[in-house]
Amino acid sequence: MFIPRTFQRSLTFAFNAGSISLQTRLCVVHGGLRKVELQVFIFPLAGRAHDVPGGSCGYRCLDGPNGLESNKKYLGELSMRINKTLVAIALALGATSSAYAANDLKVGMILPMSGPFADYGMQILNGARLYIAEHGDKVGDRKINLIVKDDTGVAPEISKRAAQELVVNEKADILAGFGLTPSSFAVAPLSAQAKVPMIIMNAATSVVTEKSPYIVRVSMTLPQNSAPMATWALKNGIKKVYTVVADFGPGHDAEKQFTKTFTEGGGKIVGAVRTPVKSPDFAPFLQKVKDTRPDAVFLFVPAGEQGVAFLKGYKERGLDKDGIKLISTGDLTDEDVLNAMGDPAIGVVTSFHYSEDHKSPENKSYTQAYHKAHPNVRPNFMSVAGYDGMHLIYSVLKKTNGDATGDKFVAAAKGMSWESPRGPITIDPKTRDIIQNVYIRKVEKVDGVLQNVEIDTIPNFRDPGKP
Ligand code: PHB
Repeated sequence: MFIPRTFQRSLTFAFNAGSISLQTRLCVVHGGLRKVELQVFIFPLAGRAHDVPGGSCGYRCLDGPNGLESNKKYLGELSMRINKTLVAIALALGATSSAYAANDLKVGMILPMSGPFADYGMQILNGARLYIAEHGDKVGDRKINLIVKDDTGVAPEISKRAAQELVVNEKADILAGFGLTPSSFAVAPLSAQAKVPMIIMNAATSVVTEKSPYIVRVSMTLPQNSAPMATWALKNGIKKVYTVVADFGPGHDAEKQFTKTFTEGGGKIVGAVRTPVKSPDFAPFLQKVKDTRPDAVFLFVPAGEQGVAFLKGYKERGLDKDGIKLISTGDLTDEDVLNAMGDPAIGVVTSFHYSEDHKSPENKSYTQAYHKAHPNVRPNFMSVAGYDGMHLIYSVLKKTNGDATGDKFVAAAKGMSWESPRGPITIDPKTRDIIQNVYIRKVEKVDGVLQNVEIDTIPNFRDPGKP
């Protein structure tokens, strides 16, 4: 059921104890949905993220100067008082508890909702919730519930514990989300062991799907988007390329596939660097590229602020003026950050599976509905993956008469095809990965807005990273 944001009420309570500030957020949604979300966060002065098992509430605890143990002591005392307060408030507001009906289908969403990759979680959830809003919250007689756990980004231990909590305590039927590869690697063994379907809505390292037979991916893979960029470069007179990739799974995949396709076609790689995943300083890498004078630099960095910083440095150091082209997978010119990049992005060519500007009736209706629900956010590839992930879940449940057990779910998902806002897509029956169009796009201004305008299509392209 779609609940307009305006009907939502969010109450925040704050308690301070020593160096710890504890906030409790109670979200009560009026007008039909009777659900209470209880979350307790502990924010210390500084420190590292930890997960603390939290009974009926979700706790995220940061290790303060006194260490986790003393935080736990405070937490124990405070959480009891707060839980009582929250229950009293919930009752006063006439909301029921967060208990689910026996037949409800629980989708445990493990996503970065805070930290540098928080937009990934926001976008994926926006897409998933939009699908539910448009199609109703029931499939047959099973009500669909999303249970969201914040894994804070590149933090495999937190993702793993979130999955354990979801499967063991919450009895989630399906795990979904996974903004980043390390999170999907951390959870895959549990999916395999517990035979729980795991729907990947972003993590894009090729090998992810091989880590559990219950994984189905609705996002993309880096080899899938990098090979077409290499082919385009060869066709467009680019002979020497310097590769710059983030130093983790998807970056390694992008580098490997781009190099393979480009060199097999007669191109030459004149330099290759890997940049830190967290807070990279691109200045020394950009200088190296500039000094080497390739025809182009091929880039993969995780979508978001890193791309904005790279483009800024590329322009400031005058690489464009030296005739060094910037080519990349579409993670660089993600609509979520395209406005922040501004006009310097104009002309950048990328290869990708989704563009807000994609011309189709499905995408028109999707982008209009998205803009209506979130006037200040632009739909991007992650929101489309959240949307398509829900489409997959709904279609499978229809096919299995509501049976979401691992083997039934995967058997039903294999070979499934539908028209996504991104174009036609199919779940590869052999690999459980996605087959989709890859588009070559160029950033242009359309009606005053920067858009990834499609200039070529590689239809129904499989992940070349798979045997
Ligand atoms: C990943 O972690 O697999 C990942 C992250 C960001 C992207 C693409 C892939 O833009």
